[in-house]
Amino acid sequence: MYTEPPTRKPITVTTLAKLKSAGEKFTVLTAYDASFAALLEAAGVEVLLVGDSLGMVVQGQHTTVPVTVEDMIYHTRNVARGCRTALLMADMPFASYATVDQAVRNAARLMREGRAQMVKLEGGAWLVETVHQLSRNGIPVCAHLGLLPQSVHKLGGYKVQGREEAAAQRIVAEALALQDAGADVALVECIPAELATRLAAALRIPLIGIGAGPGCDAQVLVSYDMLGITPGRRPKFSKDFLTGRDSLQAAVEAYVRAVKSGEFPGPEHCIA
Ligand code: KIV
Repeated sequence: MYTEPPTRKPITVTTLAKLKSAGEKFTVLTAYDASFAALLEAAGVEVLLVGDSLGMVVQGQHTTVPVTVEDMIYHTRNVARGCRTALLMADMPFASYATVDQAVRNAARLMREGRAQMVKLEGGAWLVETVHQLSRNGIPVCAHLGLLPQSVHKLGGYKVQGREEAAAQRIVAEALALQDAGADVALVECIPAELATRLAAALRIPLIGIGAGPGCDAQVLVSYDMLGITPGRRPKFSKDFLTGRDSLQAAVEAYVRAVKSGEFPGPEHCIA
């Protein structure tokens, strides 16, 4: 695969921490293959997430639950081949981190075989020991809080989280505990914008948001949603950046500009 020489230094956890300290927003998009990875990083995206959303947008499943560790390794390795400067984060799939040992073993596989540079896990306080052990093993971690799509059957659907004050306080406390356990980044999905702003201020580590308003340090979208190619209805918090533009590159560059300028997400993408 032909790609241009890199024009920026590789993005690391230190880069993300510095961006947060400088008050500069960064961008994250999902990628599942080498060609998209090269395109997204050429457009300036700092972090590529091999999301288990691939179960839905690539495999056509109804949820992320059927995605396996083998699926994640396969897609992460493909993304790694197209990615030279973006930080490569991979989701740990459903039930692949049920115990601390299992988490360390599967995260190591994602890094060794998939060439991931960070793993993402969904959950709160119950993951404190797991995050601590991953961190001790030199594995960078993103802690995913708020709506946890892998728990969709337990939650009874994809529902906004943290609306009541007790639930909001629990999310803040759990994020702080995971930060103290060694998480390098946190990600919140589908929580009220006011809660995400409060959480970003409380955390030392960068906070990535999806459906969490403009107060986060970074934004992530499923790339197929922001290109308008996901079948069915697009989530309210997402935006089609391809309509009205003549290339994928132009669409992704528009997303990067809109996040960095604070124009996206706007009030129409926020959960009250
Ligand atoms: O799997 C995924 O794509 C994700 C994002 C929606 C954050 O976890």
